[in-house]
Amino acid sequence: MDTRPFLIVAIDGGAASGKSSTARALSARFHLLHVDTGSFYRAVTAVLLRRGIGATDAARIEAEVAGLRLSTHIAGRSAGMEINGEMIPDAEIRGAAVNGAVSHVAALPAVRAALLAYQRGQEGVARAGGFRGLVMEGRDIGSVIFPSAPCRFFLHADPAERARRRAQEGGQDAIAVRDQLDSSRKAAPLACPEGAVAVDTTHHNLEEVVALLSRPIAEHLGV
Ligand code: CDP
Repeated sequence: MDTRPFLIVAIDGGAASGKSSTARALSARFHLLHVDTGSFYRAVTAVLLRRGIGATDAARIEAEVAGLRLSTHIAGRSAGMEINGEMIPDAEIRGAAVNGAVSHVAALPAVRAALLAYQRGQEGVARAGGFRGLVMEGRDIGSVIFPSAPCRFFLHADPAERARRRAQEGGQDAIAVRDQLDSSRKAAPLACPEGAVAVDTTHHNLEEVVALLSRPIAEHLGV
């Protein structure tokens, strides 16, 4: 039996706060399964848009999400969510239409409920895949999905710096609008969970942020 510790790392934060690049680097350093839950909300939104359903049509969305079949495809160290057996292409989930709709879709309790068990189930996926743990990023990981995770972080940065980073990645994204919607919604609003370590990444590069988060992770894993 494998008696090595298995660690869950939760990283929450606003749009373009540095979650994804930090999570990817930690995944590589400690062999953790990387789970980007934003991509799940984006994929669900893309499928709804394909079906011609408006982002605020709560009744139709509720009916549709209940029927979605969700499965996981591991590529490298990352968990991708398939919907009815299909991985929705990256260009589609990161395009302008999804950027504009995703926060409305993610605010609906029925959508969050449909993804809850699936997200928690990634722990089993990581264990079965031989990973030493998982690093999951999103908006409510340390508060709702894994509130007892031993390592919980909340990344933030000045709005101007975040806008600069997103522009550098290319693409059209009104991150301030999404943050406003994400922070003010009733269901699992974006906020630093109690007991989580808040990290301001405005004046720190990726390497510095990764080094900071690595210390407690290494301690928990005993490496
Ligand atoms: O990459 P970026 O930070 O711009 O966003 P993302 O992590 O891909 O998330 C896209 C959207 O999904 C967010 O603006 C939220 O509306 C929603 N989301 C959420 O509600 N809960 C999560 N755990 C993750 C994302």
